[in-house]
Amino acid sequence: MDSFKYKDGTLYAEDVPARKIAEEVGTPAYVYSRETLLDHYTKIDKAFAEVPHLICYSVKANSSLGVLAILEHAGTGFDVVSGGELARVQKIGADMKKVVFAGVGKGDAELVQALRAGILMFNVESEAELENIDRLAGQLKAEGDMKEPARVALRVNPDVDPKTHAYITTGKKENKFGVDLERASGIISAAKKHAHVRVTGIHAHIGSQITDVTPYQESLTKVVSFIKTHRGKDVPIQYLNSGGGFGIYYADRKAQPAAKFAEVIVPMVKDSGCTLVLEPGRFICGNAGILLTRVTYVKESGNKRFLIVDAGMNDLARPTLYGAFHEIWPVEASELPPTRGGKPAEGEAYAVSDVVGPICESGDFLAKDRALPKGLARGDLLAVYSAGAYGFVMAGNYNTRPFVPEVIVKGGAHYVVNRRQTVEELLARESVPQDLL
Ligand code: LLP
Repeated sequence: MDSFKYKDGTLYAEDVPARKIAEEVGTPAYVYSRETLLDHYTKIDKAFAEVPHLICYSVKANSSLGVLAILEHAGTGFDVVSGGELARVQKIGADMKKVVFAGVGKGDAELVQALRAGILMFNVESEAELENIDRLAGQLKAEGDMKEPARVALRVNPDVDPKTHAYITTGKKENKFGVDLERASGIISAAKKHAHVRVTGIHAHIGSQITDVTPYQESLTKVVSFIKTHRGKDVPIQYLNSGGGFGIYYADRKAQPAAKFAEVIVPMVKDSGCTLVLEPGRFICGNAGILLTRVTYVKESGNKRFLIVDAGMNDLARPTLYGAFHEIWPVEASELPPTRGGKPAEGEAYAVSDVVGPICESGDFLAKDRALPKGLARGDLLAVYSAGAYGFVMAGNYNTRPFVPEVIVKGGAHYVVNRRQTVEELLARESVPQDLL
């Protein structure tokens, strides 16, 4: 479900016409629906109601303070992967006892920031990191800044194929994430010698945009048996963290409802006797956002038709980076977009077009060979769907293009939660010392 709907020939975000937002804040602009965010969070929360669980929304998917605050208010915890993301959740006043910190390369300053904040636990990715946390926690204790040992979950690499894009596959043995189960055993046994860390969980995130439940089954079967073995050896493992990864609709209808994942995961969590930690990102915010962009020019060249729009690969990197499909459809339309039941075919009303941005690279496209209404012309507004996750957060300033605004809609009201960056702001950190010349 999402709250972007066509009414009377125009697209609405909840009860606000998308056109109105574009006119007010300009384009390109990201628009998020509060209702959709909450709906998707609630779906996961309900699906896993049978077991004790903590939903740590994965901040990397969409780290807008507005989005974080809405989710925090609804009860989520957070999964952060940098000191910057931790600062974001600190800024919105999140409960640190619901924050987990993941990532293969956490630096000392980030670890100290999180230790001082008193987060729930670190997802530790190597023995070297475990030793480093022990050392830093020991120092903080000596300085009187910490009483309890730092809680950690060891991230294991279960070597399963989540059947998704290679760049977002994380649980195969050749990936840099976690440690294989055999090494993990050694690390857990050795962890007892570290006075300032306590292993309280096992973490196994296997990838992202997963639309098949069997990889979770395979992974958790291995993880639960691992937990049982080690609990017998006196390691008090309380948390099983299965990471994120639940897929959403882009082009196809393959995405599974949260309940389908729960069907597989819940029995194994029960068997483990652990509290489940989930780190969903995309499932919560992916379909809750669109990118509004305007057609700057229409041109035909060779045998191709190009719609040149004002959003580029710097605003939404997914199409060029992963070959990702994002539905694109006019804001003023009487027919539904194809992924919502409309059926454009090449013929009278439709023309096959590439939707491209203004960046000086052939990789700068939002869509290739897409059937779109033939009548589209300069000035027309388009909505790029399913852009709420890994959209704005992956934007860059390439070609010295400022960051675009982010707007959140709540019912009939909308709020600019991140205003458009100005070129002056973009240049402000730079300087040209005279001695350089
Ligand atoms: N937990 C960990 C340890 C992760 O590495 C990730 C995502 C998540 C949770 C959240 O996964 P989600 O529920 O959103 O699938 N930029 C890529 C996606 C990168 C995902 C990285 N890790 C994309 O645009 O598809």
